Amino acid sequence: MTLDDNSDQVHFWNELAGPLWVAHQNETDRLTGPFGEQAIERAQPVDGDQVLDVGCGCGSTTRVLAAAVAPSGRAIGVDVSRVMLEQARHSAAAAGLTNLEFIEGDAQCDPFGNDRFDLVFSRFGTMFFADPVAAFFNLGASLRPGGRLTFVCWREPALNPWMTVPERAALRFFELDPPGAAQGPGPFALSAHDHVAGLLRAAGLAEVELVTVAREVLVVEGSEGPDLHRWAHHRLVAGPARVRYLESPTDVQARARADLIEAVSVHRSDDGVRMPGAAWLVSARR
Ligand SMILES: C[S@@+](CC[C@H](N)C(=O)[O-])C[C@H]1O[C@@H](n2cnc3c(N)ncnc32)[C@H](O)[C@@H]1O
Repeated sequence: MTLDDNSDQVHFWNELAGPLWVAHQNETDRLTGPFGEQAIERAQPVDGDQVLDVGCGCGSTTRVLAAAVAPSGRAIGVDVSRVMLEQARHSAAAAGLTNLEFIEGDAQCDPFGNDRFDLVFSRFGTMFFADPVAAFFNLGASLRPGGRLTFVCWREPALNPWMTVPERAALRFFELDPPGAAQGPGPFALSAHDHVAGLLRAAGLAEVELVTVAREVLVVEGSEGPDLHRWAHHRLVAGPARVRYLESPTDVQARARADLIEAVSVHRSDDGVRMPGAAWLVSARR
């Protein structure tokens, strides 16, 4: 296994998505934070645990894990995105945390040392592996015997309209092809129950369990026009219609934003736009 296998993702998370995620980290935490909190609750980190946070991004969960395993435990965040790791280090220093570190690496193939961690955790960072069995085998080997793997990943697209409704509206507006079936690395790569269970068992993990967590996602905070237009702009810039949107004249951009807002308007409430989302809380043991 070589780093090249994930080179598309390395490029994506460094050059395209990474800077946007750094700029919008608070929004990401608002959208996915509650799912991550439930995953951490399920993982039950305790003082003394050695923890690996896979695809840690800007490090929000690494900081929570480090606090949970203090004073004698330690959390290590690993990610392929240099720009997100830089932000993670900055936020950890600002929070005054010392029992954590962030390393640049590919969780699929980089050696982390055998029998090392009590917990391997991830909030939406395990769906991007070119070879998931190899990745979970590698992560499993880094667990001490009896150590636990806990991660949260998205369920099927139909159960996540908060993501798919705006994306489909944007693609329709710019007459781009709809996304193909959920194959290969991407947000829905681990959405099918039996597929995930099979991958983990093939990677040698035991006691595999998937539990549904379904909740409303606060897609837009605030229900005023400017709130919605800011959200629609960000959504278009961050999605597959990005190039078409940015290259369009301002009146077309405004129509695209209005179209996106219209697509989610049925979900508007006083404080913003809330839409359903669903994920798997996955756990296994070495
Ligand atoms: C959807 S983001 C989640 C980030 C973070 N866990 C959060 O919840 O904010 C996915 C993360 O996985 C990272 N990633 C993708 N492939 C990876 C790999 N092979 N090894 C390590 N990190 C990876 C990306 O760089 C990105 O930071």
